[in-house]
Amino acid sequence: MTTNTLNDIEIIKAPTSKIDSVDFQNLAFGNVFTDHMLVCDYKDGQWEKPVIKPYAPFLMDPSAKVFHYGQAIFEGMKAYKDVNDDIWLFRPDQNFERFNKSAVRMAMPEVPEFVFMEGLKELIRLEKDWVQKGLGNSLYLRPFMIATGTGVIAAPSQEYRFMIILSPAKSYYSGEVKVIIAEHFSRAANGGIGAAKAAGNYSAQFYPTKLANEKGYQQIIWTDDATHTKLEEAGTMNVFFRINDTLFTAPTSERILDGITRKSVIDLVNKENIALEVRTVLVDELVEAAKNGSLKEIFGAGTAAVINPIVGFSYKDEYYELPKLEKPMALKIKQKLTNIQNKLEEDVFGWTVKI
Ligand code: COI
Repeated sequence: MTTNTLNDIEIIKAPTSKIDSVDFQNLAFGNVFTDHMLVCDYKDGQWEKPVIKPYAPFLMDPSAKVFHYGQAIFEGMKAYKDVNDDIWLFRPDQNFERFNKSAVRMAMPEVPEFVFMEGLKELIRLEKDWVQKGLGNSLYLRPFMIATGTGVIAAPSQEYRFMIILSPAKSYYSGEVKVIIAEHFSRAANGGIGAAKAAGNYSAQFYPTKLANEKGYQQIIWTDDATHTKLEEAGTMNVFFRINDTLFTAPTSERILDGITRKSVIDLVNKENIALEVRTVLVDELVEAAKNGSLKEIFGAGTAAVINPIVGFSYKDEYYELPKLEKPMALKIKQKLTNIQNKLEEDVFGWTVKI
């Protein structure tokens, strides 16, 4: 990879802010964006100077490869404001690393650390008033890269645009989440792009998820594409199962996203001495546990969704309701995690990074 010496970010400020028009108490996820965005273009084998400029639409050639071949990747991150008004990122090094892994898998250029990290921090500093204090509030950060090169030949683009946009966030899911276990459709296959945070991984889920929505389910728990017998990942989240007092989650693979919330939950749970097994969980095991009453909880873990309890699942047209527990493990883990993210509890793992 060739790069110019990137040590500078140009900032063009918006003449006015729209912050006063935002109802921070009633935010639907990902609909409102802050006043500025970061843009950094890749041309002639080099990254150009990053620019922070007013958030606005931009023109693109209709033949840009992102429109035809979906050469696009993204990350999901959050910034939190503590009681002293300091702003913190959660494990941003992990997102940066995963972003560039996704870039390699999608034949896109890796983004220099300065552009990703300093660009992100500079943009958040400018938008500090958009980071709301208090548990449950955060600024959702969306770095992404698209293929802007023109021409419909099916080959990697020669030009790219890396961008960061920011959106104040509360919860991702409103209301209960019920899931269907996939029996036919697949999210990913061995040798595919399931482990990359590629845009196409998400759009491929839209149709089966729409069918699930029509039946009253919010998400799908994906199973392995070859046999549909192994439980893998839920829509926008990794997934954990509690059978009796042990938690189970699938090992990451070429088909499963290496979730940062997932790996943080694993570390937290190990520290709390909660029994956890990272191993393949079979659909049959889950159904059996639901039938014999040993299945206590299922929850999803993801940046946007945080820790989201699943209230029941459907498999082969049979619905299994989970028990309503007084002290769910999911809640305990969520509290630990969000306390660390919001600097309400000591971060013994060194995960939080001050801006
Ligand atoms: C996230 O949790 O940040 C994700 O990237 C999932 C996204 C589809 C909302």
